[in-house]
Amino acid sequence: MMGEGDTPLLVSRRIGPERGARRLYFKLESCNPSGSYKDRFIAAELSSLMKRGVRTCVATSSGNTGSALAAGCARFDMRCHILVNDDAPVGKLIQMQAHGAKVIRVPRFVSDPGVTDRVFAQLQAYSKSAGAALVVSAFRYCPEGMGGVERIAWELTVAFGGAKEIDGVFVPVGGGGLYSAVVQGFQKRGSAVPKVHVVQPAGCSTVAAAFARGEREVRPVTASTRVSGLSVPSDIDGGLALQRLRECGGTAFEASDEEIFAAQRLLMTQEGVYCEPAGAAALAGWLKARDAGVIDPSGAFVCLVTGHGFKDPVSVESAATKNPSRLLTLSEIDRLADVLGAA
Ligand SMILES: Cc1ncc(COP(=O)(O)O)c(C=O)c1O
Repeated sequence: MMGEGDTPLLVSRRIGPERGARRLYFKLESCNPSGSYKDRFIAAELSSLMKRGVRTCVATSSGNTGSALAAGCARFDMRCHILVNDDAPVGKLIQMQAHGAKVIRVPRFVSDPGVTDRVFAQLQAYSKSAGAALVVSAFRYCPEGMGGVERIAWELTVAFGGAKEIDGVFVPVGGGGLYSAVVQGFQKRGSAVPKVHVVQPAGCSTVAAAFARGEREVRPVTASTRVSGLSVPSDIDGGLALQRLRECGGTAFEASDEEIFAAQRLLMTQEGVYCEPAGAAALAGWLKARDAGVIDPSGAFVCLVTGHGFKDPVSVESAATKNPSRLLTLSEIDRLADVLGAA
């Protein structure tokens, strides 16, 4: 629809080999047109809505669904209103606004279940009365759109010459829709389903905590993570993700925000991969699994890099400020070689 999908699969040149892993791969979902895997969801969702003659959408988003939806609506001349939490990263907000979406920021939206429930109740009523589609990237609300995300599994199967060649896939989990889609994508191909692992910030562990407790239900938590996109404290697709996790035999990992930011810095400085923190969470999970001896590092592993670094410039600032730029004086131009040699 807009060039989404068929994203690059990059073999790790430094992070993996330096840790005895020659077959660690990064699936660059950040290379989708609006910079995240959500383009797959929006492409499938909008084509289904357009077939049904729907021309207006209301959406909730932590930012990436909104960016993808705003781009799609600009291209297909649809109207969209997007409700986001008030601390959505600036890169995502700018994208939505630049594409012409009507953006409404809601204090404590998503993080506070009371506020979130009130917003959803209003949106559901509005969507019925105004004939507008309610767009949320989750199976609970938009199963057709989520079908588009399942393709990630097909692409991996083709790239490896069969799903049984993959020893594990690491997936960042917020609401759980992405994870469920990846597992279902493998299941629908009918072949072997690799172990698909959940990675969540410790500051918003819903699925991972329920898995550790051996429970079937996801309990709501109070989120403290600063990782945009993974701060989903209530059960949207979390219960579904938990079920899929048990079916595929994967494991769940929790990583602190610091570990996720450190993984983001590793991707930027050692692999040349520019990603937002949520996009580095899968690698943080792989590092934990490897350090804990839970996986054999000689296996073939994939980390989904789900969102681009341009999305969240503040998150890359700390890495950038450690490496300040140098302002050249005009008199130094003639002895530039000395300056470069000293740098
Ligand atoms: C970049 C990124 N990665 C991962 C996720 C998690 O997806 P889900 O909420 O479906 O678990 C999101 C969700 O917004 C995201 O934006």
